[in-house]
Amino acid sequence: MTFSEFDRTLTANYARMPVEWVRGEGTSLFDTKGDEYLDFQTGLAVNALGHCHPGITKAITEQATQLSHVGNLFYNEPMVRLAQRLVEHSFGERVFFTNSGTEAVEAALKCARKRKRGGKIVSVHRGFHGRTYGSLSATPQEDKQAPFAPLVPGFVSVEPTVEALTAEIDDSTAAVIIEPVQGESGVWVIGDDVLNAAREACDTHGAALIFDEVQCGLGRTGKLWGYEYSGVVPDAMTLSKALGGGLPLGALVCGPETADVFAPGDHGSTFAGGPIQCAAANVVVDHVSDQKLLKAVTDNGERLREALAEFPQVSEVRGRGLMVAAELDGVSAPDLVKRLFSEQRLVANATGPTTLRLLPPLIVSTAEIDDAVGRIELALG
Ligand SMILES: Cc1ncc(COP(=O)(O)O)c(C=O)c1O
Repeated sequence: MTFSEFDRTLTANYARMPVEWVRGEGTSLFDTKGDEYLDFQTGLAVNALGHCHPGITKAITEQATQLSHVGNLFYNEPMVRLAQRLVEHSFGERVFFTNSGTEAVEAALKCARKRKRGGKIVSVHRGFHGRTYGSLSATPQEDKQAPFAPLVPGFVSVEPTVEALTAEIDDSTAAVIIEPVQGESGVWVIGDDVLNAAREACDTHGAALIFDEVQCGLGRTGKLWGYEYSGVVPDAMTLSKALGGGLPLGALVCGPETADVFAPGDHGSTFAGGPIQCAAANVVVDHVSDQKLLKAVTDNGERLREALAEFPQVSEVRGRGLMVAAELDGVSAPDLVKRLFSEQRLVANATGPTTLRLLPPLIVSTAEIDDAVGRIELALG
């Protein structure tokens, strides 16, 4: 079958690359011809431990022979263990599990609205929080929102600046939601002063501060949580992407202000917190909380950013750890991504017309960073 034949039965909402992957191993992906590609996209920040990590594969297969689903009217050991781990490693007191990032954000928004009934939700420009109605309403991007109007009422967005946030947050604010490092819009690090100002204004006005760490959490930035750089602690944090080791899993981690908001019947999800995905996630959390791995993420990220900054076609490099964007001058990022893919067998992605985003697996070696830089140099020409 050809790709255009595949497209006949798939909705047209993804601009897919012309490739069908059949196997993954570590940092490599293999197509139907057996050709090997270096994966610096990781299914959009999911495969933190690379493809088919033996520990994850073992945990999934063992759990699949024991128990695959019971639902949330019961307990299961991998889920409880995972909740305890997330709490031990963060500011959190309690965890609500979901199947995706957008659902983790929905849970956070519902929690904040229940805590302060009817309250306004404040997000910031360039933010991305998901595609369902609540998270989309907190995603102030015209092209994503406009076709689906009307959105959920009571959402406003401001520039991610101290002045704008301080002016907008008031007694009617239920929550402020921010990605400490904005991913989807092209890897923008939010300043510590801005996060501090949001914290202060939320405290003054009794609003919940939510950090969306769906992309920047779980070691991606070189620290376990993106918020650790600023020292600003949120009231709730959303996770997903890397959490399930390739299986669908998300989480809302609730701190003291939000931990006791949900009561039985308030919110739920049939599959969330299932034993197989939580068994995989326990392996992920073990690895991404390891200081040696986090140091390697920091060092390799620095090396990658320094190398990218040397290219004359690169006008700016942004990011933390292995969450990296290069702003291109006079080069189309989507064209570069196509060339990297077809000529250099490097998988990357473009977040805009001039922005190349690189999200290698956290287990990437220094030699593979250098290899990728060499491939980018050749593709830039
Ligand atoms: C910061 C952030 N929040 C939420 C989401 C939505 O996650 P999902 O696609 O799993 O619904 C994403 C996805 O890219 C994200 O980057």
